[in-house]
Amino acid sequence: TRTPVNVTVTGAAGQIGYALLFRIASGHLLGPDTPVRLRLLEIPQAVNAAEGTAMELDDCAFPLLSGIDITDDAKTAFDGVNIALLVGARPRSKGMERGDLLSANGGIFKPQGEAINAGAAEDVRVLVVGNPANTNALIAQQHAPDVPAERFTAMTRLDHNRALAQLSKKLGVSLGDIKKLTIWGNHSATQYPDLFHAEVNGTSAAAAVGDQEWLEGTFIPTVAKRGAAIIEARGLSSAASAANAAIDHVYSWVNGTPEGDWTSAAVVSDGSYGVPEGLISSFPVVASGGRYEIVQGLEIDEFSRGRIDASVAELVEERDAVKALGLI
Ligand code: NAI
Repeated sequence: TRTPVNVTVTGAAGQIGYALLFRIASGHLLGPDTPVRLRLLEIPQAVNAAEGTAMELDDCAFPLLSGIDITDDAKTAFDGVNIALLVGARPRSKGMERGDLLSANGGIFKPQGEAINAGAAEDVRVLVVGNPANTNALIAQQHAPDVPAERFTAMTRLDHNRALAQLSKKLGVSLGDIKKLTIWGNHSATQYPDLFHAEVNGTSAAAAVGDQEWLEGTFIPTVAKRGAAIIEARGLSSAASAANAAIDHVYSWVNGTPEGDWTSAAVVSDGSYGVPEGLISSFPVVASGGRYEIVQGLEIDEFSRGRIDASVAELVEERDAVKALGLI
């Protein structure tokens, strides 16, 4: 039998944690042949709730789950970690300024980055889900200088999946017919879901839609504001779909993307497409051999250029703000 992979989930007692842990334990994160050992990190007040979730995980008798540890100490949580899912974050409360939000999250992601640097396994891979995800990932990455920067990613797969769903409904095609869709930039309202490089049954998705007004006035805002629409309807933010996207992100990273297709992930920029080096921004990516790589050589038209630049400008602002706060 294979040695279990250590998977650490932060914010384990939260909404996304509850939707995520059972799928990890049942084999959906890494595949049906890989046993996992779960480490749950929570704040002291939520350790009890995490213990309750662990009791339910026990009660599922998942054959692939080889153990669960629960802790409120980051060093313990990340010791020997192979896959780190950083879900727990400080949400924006009423009247909170952006600087306060960034500081509060710096207080979470800086020590977690340091703990990953100190104790993670050689092959560690990190996915940040907690918002502001791209900048939280940047903070953690900057405090883990001994870990290759490419191992730090942030999640835009939910945005990617939302865009796939909207396009498939619009064109009346099945999801499997759509390829090469991209989310560019920040996981925020400025993100740019790009149909100009996407293909439907081998032809241009933008051409198949043939309606720039729908693209600009309906498609892009629907995808970018979907999180708010879910809160409005459900009274709670997206959780099962976010957990599903986290599973997809890691599964693709480890097992590869299909030939002739790509996906979206926020990864450390190497300067591609004019995105400043070092920013964690969403790109079209392919995965093989356990690495995500930015798809190169796409032509960017004027409309897409403007949208990408606007979202990247927001990431630059966030980076400069955390720099000014001394968080990186
Ligand atoms: P939640 O509030 O239900 O759960 C968050 C959990 O994190 C709580 O149990 C809290 O105790 C814990 N936590 C807070 N600080 C922590 C720390 N320092 N260490 C460990 N745990 C800590 O929130 P939910 O709904 O599970 O969402 C989690 C995050 O994911 C939020 O920041 C949310 O904005 C973000 N999100 C990101 C998405 C994306 O597409 N990137 C999509 C949906 C949500």
